[in-house]
Amino acid sequence: MADPTLIIASDPVEAAVDVWHGAYREALSEDRSFAVALAGGRTPATLYRRLSVEPLDWSRIEVFLSDERAVPPDDPESNWGLISRLLLDPVSAPAENAHRPRGEADDLAAAAREYARTMEDILPTTAGGVPVFDLVLLGLGADGHTASLFPGSRALGVRDRWFVSAAGASQADPRLTITYSVIEAARNVCVLVLGESKSRVLSEVLRGVAEVPAAPLRHWGNVLWLADEEAARGAASSSGPYRVDRR
Ligand code: 6PG
Repeated sequence: MADPTLIIASDPVEAAVDVWHGAYREALSEDRSFAVALAGGRTPATLYRRLSVEPLDWSRIEVFLSDERAVPPDDPESNWGLISRLLLDPVSAPAENAHRPRGEADDLAAAAREYARTMEDILPTTAGGVPVFDLVLLGLGADGHTASLFPGSRALGVRDRWFVSAAGASQADPRLTITYSVIEAARNVCVLVLGESKSRVLSEVLRGVAEVPAAPLRHWGNVLWLADEEAARGAASSSGPYRVDRR
């Protein structure tokens, strides 16, 4: 177990682009495609716009989602719709490398199993069969959820599957989400946290005082917590078993 590292960045999007490039170059240098799981929500929108103008070889990038809502891709709530508008369409990502979870499916559990099989077919796996991403991008909800691992969700207890459908205790609709096993097995995980509204939960997670879905990630050495000054205010003014660097 490693102590978590919090990076407080004057330009967190640029810092996230650097994280992306580091993992991307490592994959290509090892003659692998770069496999990435993208986060939904509002936080990464600027990052996706920024990546759309980066000199990347999209024929060498396998794109997945960390989670998706139970909606079709043309729904305003769809994470796939978001990343397509901001990133995949502008870079003309090859369709065969753009792997969309079927949020519109009537049988979400079957759609989740299908997506997990796609991960197994395309990604390298651990000895235990867990698909290994080069980079998993995640956000952090004010309630401490990450991906769609929400408080009270039965997905929190799943370790032998890679992508599942589940709803949190406070949710009416189920979500499709990556599981802890895949997050823990990834070569790199970047939790991008922006804005004052996340300051308390980020501080509590890093200090280990919050039993929330993002809490287990604080023990994993592959996880980088990347925040702006506002989101880091609580953690930066506290002390705890975590390192703080500034970029
Ligand atoms: C989603 C995301 C979710 C998000 C957090 C933070 O589907 O909404 O995957 O986990 O990262 O809810 O959301 P914001 O970035 O909008 O604050």
